[in-house]
Amino acid sequence: MVRFDLDRRFLHGGDYNPDQWLDYPEILQKDIQLMKQANINTVTLGVFAWSALEPREGEYHFDWLDDIFDQVAAFDGNVILATPSGGRPQWLSQHYPEVNRTDALGQKHVHGFRHNHCYSSPIYRAKVQEINRKLAERYGKHPALSMWHVSNEYSGECFCDYCQENWRKWLKKKYGSLEAINQAWLMSFWGSTYSDWRQVLPPSPLGEHKVHGMDLDWKRFVTDMTIDFYQAEIEPLREITPDVPVTTNFMAEGQANHDFIPLEGIDYGKFSKYVDIVSWDSYPDWNNNYETIAETAMKSAYVHDQYWSLKQQPFLVMESTPSVVNWDQFNKSKRPGVHILSSMQQIAHGSDSTLYFQWRQSRGNSEKFHGAVVGHDGSTNNRVFREVAEYGRRLAKLNEIKGTIKKTKVAILFDWESNWALKRGGGFGRPTRRYPQTLQEHYAVFWENDIPVDIITVDQDFSKYDLLIAPMLYLMTEATMDKLQAYTTNGGTLISSYFTGMVNETDLLYLGGLPKKLQELFGIDVLELDTLYEDEHNMITFQDKEFATKDYSAILSVKDAEILGNYQQEFYAGTPAVVGKKFGNGQTYYLAARTAIDFLREFYQGIIETLGLKNPLVKNGSPAVSIQIRYDKNDSYIFLMNFSETEQTIELNQALTDVENQGEIPAQLTLKPYEVRIGKI
Ligand code: GLA
Ligand code: ZN
Repeated sequence: MVRFDLDRRFLHGGDYNPDQWLDYPEILQKDIQLMKQANINTVTLGVFAWSALEPREGEYHFDWLDDIFDQVAAFDGNVILATPSGGRPQWLSQHYPEVNRTDALGQKHVHGFRHNHCYSSPIYRAKVQEINRKLAERYGKHPALSMWHVSNEYSGECFCDYCQENWRKWLKKKYGSLEAINQAWLMSFWGSTYSDWRQVLPPSPLGEHKVHGMDLDWKRFVTDMTIDFYQAEIEPLREITPDVPVTTNFMAEGQANHDFIPLEGIDYGKFSKYVDIVSWDSYPDWNNNYETIAETAMKSAYVHDQYWSLKQQPFLVMESTPSVVNWDQFNKSKRPGVHILSSMQQIAHGSDSTLYFQWRQSRGNSEKFHGAVVGHDGSTNNRVFREVAEYGRRLAKLNEIKGTIKKTKVAILFDWESNWALKRGGGFGRPTRRYPQTLQEHYAVFWENDIPVDIITVDQDFSKYDLLIAPMLYLMTEATMDKLQAYTTNGGTLISSYFTGMVNETDLLYLGGLPKKLQELFGIDVLELDTLYEDEHNMITFQDKEFATKDYSAILSVKDAEILGNYQQEFYAGTPAVVGKKFGNGQTYYLAARTAIDFLREFYQGIIETLGLKNPLVKNGSPAVSIQIRYDKNDSYIFLMNFSETEQTIELNQALTDVENQGEIPAQLTLKPYEVRIGKI
């Protein structure tokens, strides 16, 4: 039995929706032949197929799916089979209106769109389990079945009576008593103290929406309910197909603001513990008009690295576009060569797949102009199809790399809860919080220097890293403070900043300045946090150079830290802006001000040298060339990727063997615009 198939080859393919083409048999007939021509080996079936599989309640039509399964098996392809809960059939909403969501204003929604079921509704859970069971029974032993793709892009929240009941249950379990909630959320503020459980409602714009501890718990609850629904979904799959791995596709966001960061709404750190393999849908804004392609590549690399780090094992790119998306303000096609470059980048960062949304472009409705491998022309003789086929041909030569891992000595800490709390906080500069984006600026220095970085959560093991970068860790538990102390005591180097350790796990401020454990760790106390307008700057001196600051300045009093840089302006001119302290066998640094990347480059250069973090393979790199390495026991696989429109010459410390043709990649080489080469030592 094939199963998962990662021992054999990289997955190349994507979402295939034959259910949109059942009235066009001549089109369906061509698909498999075209897939072979496109060098595709995997299709994801059934993502929104519930109404095709069960058009009326209890009436099942599997023949069309049987056919496709058999045809895919006949060409030795893999099926990733989706459970269809992301798009429920009309009859379900009609017969059981409770499955539709209720929004924060208490409005009950009617049928339409997708990804919008109530995650508490007992009947929706039962109906989803029923169809999932049928799918598992019918296809569980099919030789093409490789993996389960559970639902699609879980997100959102519901405020119906079931969800409100679950919310109170969740709170009872967490806090035990109303008194504990009153304290944890400071309900004495504006005289909101609860005296009866029936008073406890979800946050709502029509009611309570200024209690930050409540908002934070609501977000935790939404994550937990999403995971709970997912676990209900997979019960029949685990029972009938225990050997078939299960995943659900995670997301990224921010493109509208020129950002590209992991989805903020669901704590994927938590969710990842329940999937067998992490997968995500990757839509960076390639070839945009507001940044260089190297900058886009850096952001994309960051998200890949974060999803790698959740399990520290290869992940899957479940969706990406072969050409263009349809949902942005401006939907630009990838320029020639960028498809292969951007897809190889996925593999370079630890993906074992390149999968697309979608195989064939929809004929109508909201995604009719979204890119696909096969467009409305149905032709193989267009640029997109040719580039996909060429990529598939090249990827098939790299199969020895699948399943290999990454090695990192540097980690950046990201905490979903800190992000939620920071964004909710009020005060300071509202548009400039930008916690994940700030982490990305620190990451950029390492990306430019080809030094690999993990992006981990506070629950993960810190001890294996030489350098831990944890700025803006606003919400911090005592346990995390202890963990940071232990990490540094044992020799780790820790970076922190303004906005760190301000609130506890229910978003209440720590009293008495910076918490004692952090004062010990950094040798400082924080006296004030000044906010700068977006066009305002202070200056700091660091190693005899001057750097502009932006957005935030913490004003420090130093206890037993070494002062490495001072502010130059404002009423805090001459006070410390950068400090360092030896702690145990390790070292800490506190960056009091936000700066641009020029300072970070200078600051990290010294640390990179002291800790010996330089990439040993790279003699002379280029900021536009990304070099990423995957390892197995004996071999290192090196991806050399030119993210620029000009030739780039780089120098390695040794020549490599070209994995695709066994020739030599010389130590000094010039990469053409957008070129990728993959070497081995
Ligand atoms: C998401 C969805 C897909 C499709 C793509 C379009 O990732 O999962 O069904 O809508 O977006 O980019
Ligand atoms: Zn609900």
